[in-house]
Amino acid sequence: MSRLGVGFIGSGFNARFHMQGWVGVRDADILGVWSPDEKGAKSAAAYCRQLHVGECKAYRNIEQMVADPAIDAIWLCGPNHARVENVEAIVDVIKRGKGQLKGIACEKPLARNVAEAKRVKQLVDSVGLKTGYLENQLFAPHVEAGKKLIWARGAATTGRPYLARAAEEHSGPHSPWFWMGQLQGGGVLNDMMCHSALVVRHLLTRPGEPLSSVKPVKVTGHIASLKWSRPAYVKKLKQSMGPQVNYAKAPSEDFASVMIEFETAEGHRVIGEASTSWSFVGAGLRLSAELLGPEYSMKWNSLDSGLQLFFSREVTGRAGEDLVEKQNAEQGVMPVVPQEYIAYGYTDEDRHFVNVFLGREEPLLTFEDGLDVVKMLMTAYQSAESGKTLAFPPRGIETFKPQVAQGTWKP
Ligand SMILES: NC(=O)c1ccc[n+]([C@@H]2O[C@H](COP(=O)([O-])OP(=O)(O)OC[C@H]3O[C@@H](n4cnc5c(N)ncnc54)[C@H](O)[C@@H]3O)[C@@H](O)[C@H]2O)c1
Repeated sequence: MSRLGVGFIGSGFNARFHMQGWVGVRDADILGVWSPDEKGAKSAAAYCRQLHVGECKAYRNIEQMVADPAIDAIWLCGPNHARVENVEAIVDVIKRGKGQLKGIACEKPLARNVAEAKRVKQLVDSVGLKTGYLENQLFAPHVEAGKKLIWARGAATTGRPYLARAAEEHSGPHSPWFWMGQLQGGGVLNDMMCHSALVVRHLLTRPGEPLSSVKPVKVTGHIASLKWSRPAYVKKLKQSMGPQVNYAKAPSEDFASVMIEFETAEGHRVIGEASTSWSFVGAGLRLSAELLGPEYSMKWNSLDSGLQLFFSREVTGRAGEDLVEKQNAEQGVMPVVPQEYIAYGYTDEDRHFVNVFLGREEPLLTFEDGLDVVKMLMTAYQSAESGKTLAFPPRGIETFKPQVAQGTWKP
């Protein structure tokens, strides 16, 4: 097999990021898209054709797309609350002998809690599908280059790194379901700590070795509602996201931090420190990472992009996201992140998983890794709720559901 036909589930913000990034992916075409929003699916299919990333069409349902012999792999980019039902639908078609998929790639988080993530994994394992866990930040060129050079020069001569830091911060998500703990599975911790918690572990892992060589042993989590439960912002959120998003009654955390103590295969203790926020107002989305060792350090900040524009107060125009994702302003000195789909890792990620499903590369991340991340996030919530540092994995993690996801959290 030398070419892969790919079908997307979901046609929203994230699916379109992958579609843009696909211009740098070889030997694979996006041929299908399904989402319950028929108009959105059709417009995403047209977008793919316009980008020349495949003769894409919208399908009427998951069954029809998976059963089509042209579709060899699925990229799962629906909302978190549809994860299990989407995977059930895919697996059901395969079990009925209709679809012949080579693999399935799933966006972060793999699911909303450990029980759901295990169900997702067990379903795909039952039909022997290859899996890919979509964590774009591990493929971001700055993270990739920084890690490679730090380990090749600094760690090789003076000893392994011992501290990694990562953060993802912006002013709040774009669709109502992200804000609703019961649908999304939590607040910013569930939404964005999946990136940062994995980035720190990845940076601390020797290149070529599995993530399991750097084992989490203790987790301390902290969550807070710093901005969006203030009365003026409760009102603002309702106005922009609809009355179903009511942070006076059911808030989610808009700030989270986690400290993870890892044990390496050689018995060293190393630390990962990560924080995420929906209450950061800067130019736009800010991703950052650091890796420190005995005689070296690296630092990355996605807003130090190398390109800045200045617009005087005479320059007026519509609010947009044309300079950077989750842009907050259109005047003054503004950083621009050109080709964000490359900068955030989408292109390299998708190229890798295409090669995995074509049988040319071993997967760097599978659903097993996705499940591990969910376990770490749930431990962080458990720690935040109890106010204690917890040994990993803690008791009860298999059935744990954060208070935020139950709609019972009181900040
Ligand atoms: N890697 C990243 O940085 C990143 C960024 C954003 C989102 N994501 C993840 O991608 C996924 C999608 O997020 P998004 O930002 O595109 O959200 P979105 O709200 O922009 O889009 C969601 C899409 O899913 C569709 N949908 C609704 N109900 C569905 C169902 N029952 N089954 C399948 N599809 C359904 C909607 O029609 C829409 O096309 C989420 O899991 C999210 O966590 C990852």
